[in-house]
Amino acid sequence: MTAPFLAAARGETPSHTPVWIMRQAGRYLPEYRETRASAGGFQEMTRTPELAAEVTLQPIRRFGMDAAILFSDIMTPLEGMGIDLRFDPGPVIDNPIRSADDVKRLRALDPDEGVPFVLETCRILARELPENVPLIGFAGAPFTLLCYLIEGHGTKSFVQARAFLRSELDAARELLDRLAHGMALYLEAQARAGARALMIFDSWVGLLDAPTFRALERPAIERILTHLRPLGVPLLYFPNQGAHLHHEVVGLHADVIGVDWRTPLEAADEALGGQFVLQGNLDPSILFAPPESLLVAADSVLDAGRSLRRGHIFNLGHGIDKRTDPDQVARLVERVHAAPVRATG
Ligand code: CP3
Repeated sequence: MTAPFLAAARGETPSHTPVWIMRQAGRYLPEYRETRASAGGFQEMTRTPELAAEVTLQPIRRFGMDAAILFSDIMTPLEGMGIDLRFDPGPVIDNPIRSADDVKRLRALDPDEGVPFVLETCRILARELPENVPLIGFAGAPFTLLCYLIEGHGTKSFVQARAFLRSELDAARELLDRLAHGMALYLEAQARAGARALMIFDSWVGLLDAPTFRALERPAIERILTHLRPLGVPLLYFPNQGAHLHHEVVGLHADVIGVDWRTPLEAADEALGGQFVLQGNLDPSILFAPPESLLVAADSVLDAGRSLRRGHIFNLGHGIDKRTDPDQVARLVERVHAAPVRATG
């Protein structure tokens, strides 16, 4: 029997609605905090395959999610392209890219040389995960990586990064192109090392208007997807806060589109022309509601999921908050697993 996550991602009917949670390995879990303390920090964990594999497995053991996501960060492969990176707690780059000359500093990524520990983590997980729980490999989307590379750290609106697109258009194109090339090779290497689905996180794409998305980011995403298509693994794209871009997402060679919690799944399906399986989109703050309200909200996402034309993978609409009670996650996963796949009445 095909793993429920893979069946759903391919548009087939799974035995139950698959569920996993963005940031499912993280600080809300006591066992994660313990591993992190003994490792000495987040980056040390990502660079030590046994520890990265261990924290990837922790939420699977505790909750029985239908997919595991590689424990790493969207910024990690940039170290293999010559960028110095630290975390505090988000990514910090002390020498950000600010000019066309800086863009040329970015080396091409050779995954075996640059991030061998990520590939080793994938190999361990491919051995240790149950057959019906596939490993999702991932990368950051070119524009989202550009945001951190130019700004040097997270901000609310990435004004310098957006200004770079306007003041240094050729250099911005060159940067997006180099990132697309690097991430295509990086994702391919993860699949060859055992990842059975690949996801592109575009956390900040919602800052772009539709014409800029169409001109700059869409071609970069499509380049990555086209490179990966022949591998035959499901491809997921998450344009966070991207409802206004959905009509431009139509036609991309992805299988699954992630939807944040602001947009109802039915509305996203309509705007996306029913072309994709949708993943999402419970508001992570609902995990702080009383259990009865959590279950009502989960049922409402499940109902919406049953109405989708190609299918549904249950997830939150963005990453889980570190203050979340793990027992609420257990209740949520149990509810999704108990739900009928198709409406019976
Ligand atoms: O469980 C998983 O989802 C897998 C691992 C994962 C991490 N980061 C681990 C992490 C994944 C898929 C990511 C992706 C990521 N990283 C994104 C895209 C998804 C999104 O949230 O929009 C982005 C934008 C980043 C950049 C990043 N890394 C930020 C903003 C932060 C700070 C987060 C915070 O809560 O303060 C990080 C650090 C980071 N990446 C942590 C983890 C578990 C926290 C590290 C710690 O333990 O201190």
